[in-house]
Amino acid sequence: MTYDLKKMKIAVVGLGYVGMPLAVALAKYGTVFGYDVNKTRVQELKDGWDSNRELKQAVLRSSTCQFTDDINDIADCDIYIVTVPTPIDETNEPDLAIVEKASAALGKIINKGDIIIYESTVYPGVTEDICGPILEKESGLKSGEGFILGYSPERINPGDEVHTVENITKVVAAQTEEAADLLVELYGQMNGGNIFKAKNIKTAEASKAIENAQRDINIAFMNEITVILNKMGLSSYDVIEAARTKWNFLPFTPGLVGGHCIGVDPYYLAKSAQDIGHDPKVILSGRDINDNMGPYIAQRIDHFLNSQSDANKAQKNILVLGFTFKENINDVRNTKVIDVVNTLKSYGYNVDVHDPHAQPDEVIHEYGLEILTALPKGQHYDCVCLAVNHKIYQDMTEAEILTLIGADETSVKPVVYDIKSTWKERDFSGNVIYETL
Ligand SMILES: NC(=O)c1ccc[n+]([C@@H]2O[C@H](COP(=O)([O-])OP(=O)(O)OC[C@H]3O[C@@H](n4cnc5c(N)ncnc54)[C@H](O)[C@@H]3O)[C@@H](O)[C@H]2O)c1
Repeated sequence: MTYDLKKMKIAVVGLGYVGMPLAVALAKYGTVFGYDVNKTRVQELKDGWDSNRELKQAVLRSSTCQFTDDINDIADCDIYIVTVPTPIDETNEPDLAIVEKASAALGKIINKGDIIIYESTVYPGVTEDICGPILEKESGLKSGEGFILGYSPERINPGDEVHTVENITKVVAAQTEEAADLLVELYGQMNGGNIFKAKNIKTAEASKAIENAQRDINIAFMNEITVILNKMGLSSYDVIEAARTKWNFLPFTPGLVGGHCIGVDPYYLAKSAQDIGHDPKVILSGRDINDNMGPYIAQRIDHFLNSQSDANKAQKNILVLGFTFKENINDVRNTKVIDVVNTLKSYGYNVDVHDPHAQPDEVIHEYGLEILTALPKGQHYDCVCLAVNHKIYQDMTEAEILTLIGADETSVKPVVYDIKSTWKERDFSGNVIYETL
């Protein structure tokens, strides 16, 4: 079968962090519909408002992408790109319910010859062995003949202005050679043809899973050595600074691993390993180490605050700076800062959290936590914990940091606990106990 991309209509299914920018980018080259079940999200996008703050109003308003919450509007399309969430459940098992539901809905509207590309992060086999049969059942068409499956993992990194859709290599795969070539052409329009055609769909699925698991494990190693080095009275940042002068030292840094990719995808890989009878020891211990960093950081803060009693803790105030899962974005999904906050609260401390990017309503809704959007004035904290490396915090001067703490009012020195070592070069002139991981 030969395809003529210019004559094909495209539907992007799921307009979140991945789907919406993809739909808008593809709309520059042809007819594109953006479909989402969330009516509020669709109305916002129609109004030119992206609550994820990925695209500016002017870009959205000038896009020819047609946003809709009515699946019948996309029944006429030829290519469907599925970008719905693939989370884990409370037992850290992959939860495929959303991608299965989206597949069932698509199965009811697809026609012979259509191409269905999955971009959601999955484990090897989900596209062909789980989604394919659902599409077959609902459409009455045969996978690989009546409709063609494709997979193209998404690599965007929110908040990263260097590695963008226009310049990162995109991996693609499909059930037929012709469809794979079509994917090369489709995605190649957006990044100057910077496409890697993977051997087959399972290979493409696995490539995404191992990319994120590798990152998770590398950070886990840094977190493990941090715990060891801290026990020796050393700062891991000082040690890493020295070690990274070696040409082949991998410059990962310790910290909290949250969000919906690095902290989730390794569980997808682990599940597929377990399904075939292999115990994925490294992958799961990496997850375990990284998931324990929030409580560990809280323990360190408690140690440096040196509170002698519970009553003493109840009188101490801590300000946590940053709540999102990474710097300079507003995404709070699976943020591990909550573990630091909750552990400190469980010790009895009073904890305030500031974040200028996170949406307060969402934080209350998801975590039951009220956050400050402006830095507190006139309040003196016993500890300031810099948890997320937002630019606004990177730019703070010593004086601005010191106004947040009661440095000159008490004989007990306040603590500045700097998870990312952002303020390492600041001169606090002995007014505080300055500690990093
Ligand atoms: N966000 C990232 O940085 C990133 C990076 C790489 C890969 N991924 C992967 O991409 C996928 C999507 O992630 P995201 O961050 O964009 O998710 P998201 O939660 O931001 O957006 C998903 C959207 O899908 C919609 N949706 C849910 N069910 C639907 C259905 N049946 N039909 C149509 N729309 C539906 C939701 O309403 C939501 O708007 C996930 O598998 C994720 O792991 C995300």
